Amino acid sequence: MNTVDEIKQKIDIVEVISQYTKLQKSGRNFKAVCPFHTEKTPSFFVFPDKQSWHCFGACGTGGDVFTFVMKKEGMYFSQALRLLAEKANVVLTYQSAKTTGEEREKQNRLLKINEVTAEYFHYLLLHSPEADIARQYVEKRGLNDKTVKSFQLGYALPSWDNLISHLANSGYHAEELVATGSAIAREGGGYYDRFRNKLMFPIRDINGKVIGFGGRALDDSLPKYINSPQTALFDKSSVLYGIEKAKPAIMQKDSAVIMEGYMDVITAHQYGFENTVASMGTSLTDRQISVLRKLSKNIVVALDADQAGLAATVRSISSIDEQIPKEHWMPWSTSKTYEELVKYEIQVVEIRDGKDPDEIIKKSPAQWGKLLDESQPIIDFTLKKEIDNINPASSQDKSAVVTKFLPILSHIDDPIRRAHYVQKLAQLLNVDERFLKDALFNTRNQEQRYRKAKGSKISKGAADFATSSRHVEEYCLSLLLKYPDLRPVGMNLSPNYFEQSENRDILCKWQQDADIINIQENLDPALHGYFERLLLFDKQLPPSVYEDSYTREEALRDCVSRLQEVYLKNLETKKKLILAAEAEGGDIEKQISTLIEHGISESQQLKEIFKKRSRFFSRAKGA
Ligand code: UTP
Ligand code: MN
Repeated sequence: MNTVDEIKQKIDIVEVISQYTKLQKSGRNFKAVCPFHTEKTPSFFVFPDKQSWHCFGACGTGGDVFTFVMKKEGMYFSQALRLLAEKANVVLTYQSAKTTGEEREKQNRLLKINEVTAEYFHYLLLHSPEADIARQYVEKRGLNDKTVKSFQLGYALPSWDNLISHLANSGYHAEELVATGSAIAREGGGYYDRFRNKLMFPIRDINGKVIGFGGRALDDSLPKYINSPQTALFDKSSVLYGIEKAKPAIMQKDSAVIMEGYMDVITAHQYGFENTVASMGTSLTDRQISVLRKLSKNIVVALDADQAGLAATVRSISSIDEQIPKEHWMPWSTSKTYEELVKYEIQVVEIRDGKDPDEIIKKSPAQWGKLLDESQPIIDFTLKKEIDNINPASSQDKSAVVTKFLPILSHIDDPIRRAHYVQKLAQLLNVDERFLKDALFNTRNQEQRYRKAKGSKISKGAADFATSSRHVEEYCLSLLLKYPDLRPVGMNLSPNYFEQSENRDILCKWQQDADIINIQENLDPALHGYFERLLLFDKQLPPSVYEDSYTREEALRDCVSRLQEVYLKNLETKKKLILAAEAEGGDIEKQISTLIEHGISESQQLKEIFKKRSRFFSRAKGA
């Protein structure tokens, strides 16, 4: 959910508009004399269910709460955003604009220090006489020279201040080393090196900048690893070790493998499994997953069998479901089978007997390849684990599994996948599928009631409505932003067809100037994060869209006609609602007849669109 959605959800359009004009109830909706033009009989309507408004009189326009405020107050989108954010008590976050020039300079200096630190440790490992023990250890672990160089492995001497004094010679103060996490301040004053007598692993971000370090003990002493602490550069919850090297391979193979340890990743790369990264021991976070999802939607997790816990499963399901619905409406993906959807799920490689990928790969790369091929969706994996552990004759055990899994299944929003797992669970437990379906139905109901009780004023209808065209709008924008050759078609697209005012704002800016940098600069900083996601959106498109301008244009035209269709249909629905409500009141006949006139012209337009679309589809099928 982006900031704009959040605001819409917290604000009631009826409340906002009633501050500007006196609203009268009309059925489930409200009417008023239009605040934008002079009139005697009300033709301005507010639809709480859809959180939108429309003037059926002289203005003939409508929109959401943002467009209303913009029009009424003469504001730009970003000003309306600010005003309503305050009203809704939503804090606007400034994702990419948050680093000021000064902060950036400071960050660059810390990055520079890390780079120098990594080079120094690497130099010591290769050349220092005192590093014999580390070189032996590296050899014992089977890492070759090329690997040592490409991962820039290093050695921290067994000294309390070797790094501090070396960097002091290059003009870096110990206090700055505290900021990078490589030194620690003593309580009584002074500083000492954090890493001593350790094999050093520089940790880089996706752009290859050193953001932190891991240091391994050279014997069995504990702790096995010491890592950089949380710093301005290093946030463990989003870091993936090896990502800068794995990135091209992940994109090329369209698959990413996540392991746990530094050593696992290094060995994997040495043996050619270059699409591999490490979560560094902690359980996977949504942020790590989303970093990888931008590169590939096929994610494989290689975890110790006992650690792939249920909690992690549930978390991953919520992020997977966010991915899937976008695909549903796309022109070329009409039918969705379970097999098609399953590829969006996180897969699990099962590793048994407490072995590390590191050991398995070194022993037999082919065996590792085979295990990767045999990976299975995380839900199936977890389900199987549970069922392996119960007594199939015990109804108590069965019921415990059902109790555990129903909440998980109820989180799967996609009905096809949900049905698949209900069937599977029924088969594995040997219980009647109907029983599970009923139980699941109840669980989902309970949860929905809970969600409703907890939160939003907006009915489910409004939420459906908001998503119906939202994805098409987002898709449309990301096509336009990415492909300059679509400009002629995009210039003819009316912003009125966009229901979401943030999308409308971006479209208008694009129509004025197609340069992405300029658009982003003119966009409210609160929308920068959203804008960047739009730019990445087409990672989910079939490859043909990238290659061929004809396909792209067809896709865009199809989106446009969908948006028109949704727009006109909504208008028709609104009119019907009004007519029904007004007819009960029994007055203003003239008003109704003009509404009907409007209605006819729009039905005509709808028919035209259907004609065009059926032509498009028959052509697509013929191709
Ligand atoms: P492992 O214990 O599996 O380490 O922890 P490993 O990478 O396989 O190392 P070797 O093969 O024993 O040498 C997995 C990861 O958990 C983090 C590290 O990122 C490690 O790579 N970890 C582990 C720590 O941060 N601190 C520790 O004390 C242990
Ligand atoms: Mn290991």
